[in-house]
Amino acid sequence: MMFQFLKIGAQASTASFWMPPQASTFAAGIDNLFYFIYYLCLLFFVGIVGAMVYFAIKYRRKSEGQKTSDIQGNHTLEIWWSVGPGLLLLVVFFWGVIDWTKILVPPSQALRIRVEGQKWTWAFSYMREGISSKNLTVPVGHPVELTMSSKDVLHSFYVPAFRVKRDVLPNRYSIIWFEPTEIGQYDIFCAEYCGDEHSGMLNKINVVSETDYEKWIQNGGDMGGSGVNPAEFGKQLFEAKGCNACHSIDGTVKVGPTLAKKYGTEEELVDGTKVKIDDNYIRESITVPGIKVVKGFQPVMPSYQGQLTDKQIEALIEYIKSLAQ
Ligand code: CUA
Repeated sequence: MMFQFLKIGAQASTASFWMPPQASTFAAGIDNLFYFIYYLCLLFFVGIVGAMVYFAIKYRRKSEGQKTSDIQGNHTLEIWWSVGPGLLLLVVFFWGVIDWTKILVPPSQALRIRVEGQKWTWAFSYMREGISSKNLTVPVGHPVELTMSSKDVLHSFYVPAFRVKRDVLPNRYSIIWFEPTEIGQYDIFCAEYCGDEHSGMLNKINVVSETDYEKWIQNGGDMGGSGVNPAEFGKQLFEAKGCNACHSIDGTVKVGPTLAKKYGTEEELVDGTKVKIDDNYIRESITVPGIKVVKGFQPVMPSYQGQLTDKQIEALIEYIKSLAQ
């Protein structure tokens, strides 16, 4: 009943000057609190600055040698200007706690998806459906529960349109949930500075109808690779898995070596030996990246062992091959 009410509220309003569109059942509640604090601040700002200016003019020094009047204080006034704002703070606190606990306790019928943050992308796994995906695709009007962890450092999963945000930590699971109310595509940000490409840690949430969602699941999500040629599929994976955060395809040197025109060439490694860039070297570099690091680079690449199917690794090899021309 309550959610129904919020849903209607969310559909009626769109983006405002301060806030992105409201696209989840939480949005209206969070925005109400935001505007409550906003107008409260405005009221106090005008009141305090107004009184300041008024008193500065009214009680300014009017003549040479004018004596400041002897004021001993006013207890009644002091109690009121402490207790009044104190009560308002309590209102804000409890209002916030109510919305916050709602976000922490997912309903039991929620669709469960795992989220993994890593430098510098998000990855989503639909455990029951056996799908891994670059972008999140969820049905509209259905609660979704995310169990999140990080492969490396602290990240923070943030969807402004849903008004949900929670830190994602290594060696620990944090949970968040939401119920999307509007079909559309929304941004996922990382809200915790996590290194060079922190600002590039952008993925999408596609909110689709129940039937489109079923169809998407049937097709194996957006990383099944059906209906595209291997090199093209490799390109999709390259972006989806965040490879592009560290490896350029235009010759630019980033955290890792560029992959432009590399296939078939020889590369010098940190220990001075040479290696030919072929299928085996690429495969090994994806699964156990620390073994043969190219000279001039740090062994910082995480292993993708167990995260990519053979089909996906082969597609990546085909893609890197296609960059050689
Ligand atoms: Cu991940 Cu910032």
